[in-house]
Amino acid sequence: YKRVTVKSLIEMKQNGEKISMLTSYDYSMAKIVDAANVDVILVGDSASNVIAGHETTLPITLDQMIYHASSVVRAAKRALVVVDIPFGSYQSDSKEALRSAIRIMKESGAHAVKVEGGSEIKESVKRIIGAGIPVMGHLGLTPQSIYKFGTYTVRAKEEQEAQKLKEDAKMLEKLGCFGIVLEKIPAKLAQEVAQSVSIPIIGIGAGNGVDGQVLVVHDLLGMTHEFNPRFLRRYMNLYEEMSNAISQYVGDVKSRDFPNEEEQY
Ligand code: KIV
Ligand code: NA
Repeated sequence: YKRVTVKSLIEMKQNGEKISMLTSYDYSMAKIVDAANVDVILVGDSASNVIAGHETTLPITLDQMIYHASSVVRAAKRALVVVDIPFGSYQSDSKEALRSAIRIMKESGAHAVKVEGGSEIKESVKRIIGAGIPVMGHLGLTPQSIYKFGTYTVRAKEEQEAQKLKEDAKMLEKLGCFGIVLEKIPAKLAQEVAQSVSIPIIGIGAGNGVDGQVLVVHDLLGMTHEFNPRFLRRYMNLYEEMSNAISQYVGDVKSRDFPNEEEQY
């Protein structure tokens, strides 16, 4: 396997090759995602929702992110592994931010970290990159700020917020970020940002004019079924298929069909 690197992602943008990115939180899923040639695996703090059942991404801890990340790293032979720094472990000051990033890199073996926000976290981004740790930005609908927004609706529809987003993207590029996730913003704005910077812009609900796409793997597979945003394309309905399989198992146990002669010693 030739490992995807932050350098190869920038080359992909230069060559016009779209970048594929998906989340994973555990070894078994990351094995499948990596073998399918996904370029970047994101150990997202969406694990807080998808794995732990929290309503928001805020409660997940740095220790929990490191546990998920180390499981994913053991599976990923080709993909670049990027890990979200969770809420509360980089906003207070830049030294704490660097300590958190270092813990992720040392204890999980991941290749890069991702943080949410622009000018507000400038010093933290600078310090982490200064230590040699690749940083990915995340602008637009940043779920760690959900209580500031009050809603999961599309961001940056107004000129003022759009202008700040464009400036933040430029700033993150200048600080040395290797890429930026843009979440749930108008496609036209996302395309404009992608054309204005030389680093890859990865969209989720940000249209087709960007350099790559990211989804939560459980959403793509249809394992989650109550989350139905417009941007989501479901490639399977695993919720239903898994429910059916498990119901059949229950029925087979109850009816004494399982195990049969060949399934015992
Ligand atoms: O945590 C996550 O899954 C993310 C992606 C949706 C970009 O940050
Ligand atoms: Na995230």
